[in-house]
Amino acid sequence: MAKEEPLLILKDVSKIYKGGNAAISNINLTINKGDFICLIGTSGSGKTTTMRTLNRMIEPTSGEIIYKGQNIHKIDPVKLRKKIGYVIQNIGLIPHMNIYENVTIVPKLLKWPENKKQAKARELIKLVELPENFLERYPAELSGGQQQRIGVIRALAADQDLILMDEPFGALDPITREGLQELVKSLQEDLKKTIVFVTHDMDEALKLATNIVVMDEGKIVQAASPQELLRHPANEFVRKLIGEERMLQARADVTTAAQIMLKDPVSITLGRSLRSAIQLMRERRVDTLLVTDDEDHLKGYIDLESLALDSSNRRATSVSDILNTKIFRITTTTLIRNSADRILKQGLKYVPVVDQNNKLCGIVTRSALVDMVYDIIWGEKNDTAAPTSPALKQGGAQDA
Ligand SMILES: Nc1ncnc2c1ncn2[C@@H]1O[C@H](COP(=O)(O)OP(=O)(O)OP(=O)(O)O)[C@@H](O)[C@H]1O
Ligand SMILES: [Mg+2]
Repeated sequence: MAKEEPLLILKDVSKIYKGGNAAISNINLTINKGDFICLIGTSGSGKTTTMRTLNRMIEPTSGEIIYKGQNIHKIDPVKLRKKIGYVIQNIGLIPHMNIYENVTIVPKLLKWPENKKQAKARELIKLVELPENFLERYPAELSGGQQQRIGVIRALAADQDLILMDEPFGALDPITREGLQELVKSLQEDLKKTIVFVTHDMDEALKLATNIVVMDEGKIVQAASPQELLRHPANEFVRKLIGEERMLQARADVTTAAQIMLKDPVSITLGRSLRSAIQLMRERRVDTLLVTDDEDHLKGYIDLESLALDSSNRRATSVSDILNTKIFRITTTTLIRNSADRILKQGLKYVPVVDQNNKLCGIVTRSALVDMVYDIIWGEKNDTAAPTSPALKQGGAQDA
């Protein structure tokens, strides 16, 4: 499939104000159709400036911006803004226009026929789950959150190529805000919109963006997908902005048991004698053994405790005689997120990992989890090498 031409390309774009103050310097960025780009950074880092250069609300001092192959410097700003919509902070509905008129401002500028505007307005109001008769109301007759919804659909109404949103949800309570984030994200995905969105809020950026652009002091520090940003923050600044807790959480969200398990755990089959079990424990310095049948299906475990209990009456002779069948197990595809808590908080030394057919594949140890935590906090040292044996070493160590 031929790659589509980028919608916008920024090449070494700078904006220098009087006195030599560079609001942005040497910004390079490519915006493709369907991208949801979040600009994030500290106050004064140049987010709004960058965004406003895109529809010529601000003229760069140097560099060029190419819109569909054409330098925007050569495009009439009014024409350009019919293609690139701008949502000001807190949406700003026009109070003396009713909702219908508000929603269809740009289509009106574009001289759409009345029936097309009507149909569009009705389609959009349905999308945000507001009743159609709201179109006749005035902004003051809507709640704050409802007004925001109208602001969002107004931005979508004209089918513009690109929508610029500068902290549109800044002043909202968390619940309304979350609802609107979901709305914008789903509309963007369903309608294949391209959006550039400024935010202060990393959670918002991680949730919405296909690309996050981190800015500091007028420069791009890192531009990457949310996943990439979380896995490989470019420097301390980005790391701080993300926050360690969030990195850990996000990593746990995508890491599966298979990725961090130790393979070839020490195990024994049901039919073996207790003598050989004791010998194996001694050799491998472990205090528990996972027990499988001859086809590797996990059946349970035996531990020193049950061996010791039995030693008084010596009735048991084989592994199956003292088998504990109650065992917490996870599968290879289990996300660490869903098991880390249990392992760390309940003080389990490890949990066995089985495949879909309950065949034993490995174990996730407490120390592998702890390693993951350190990796995230101190950087990526051994991301590539998957751990292998010595299996169950931690399981046996008393201090683990
Ligand atoms: N008209 C202007 N004249 C001089 N300096 C300006 C002008 N507009 C913006 N700046 C400066 O440019 C820098 C970037 O401003 P910008 O508005 O892009 O920041 P921002 O990242 O959007 O910040 P915030 O998160 O606070 O909205 C700031 O240091 C600001 O003071
Ligand atoms: Mg700003």
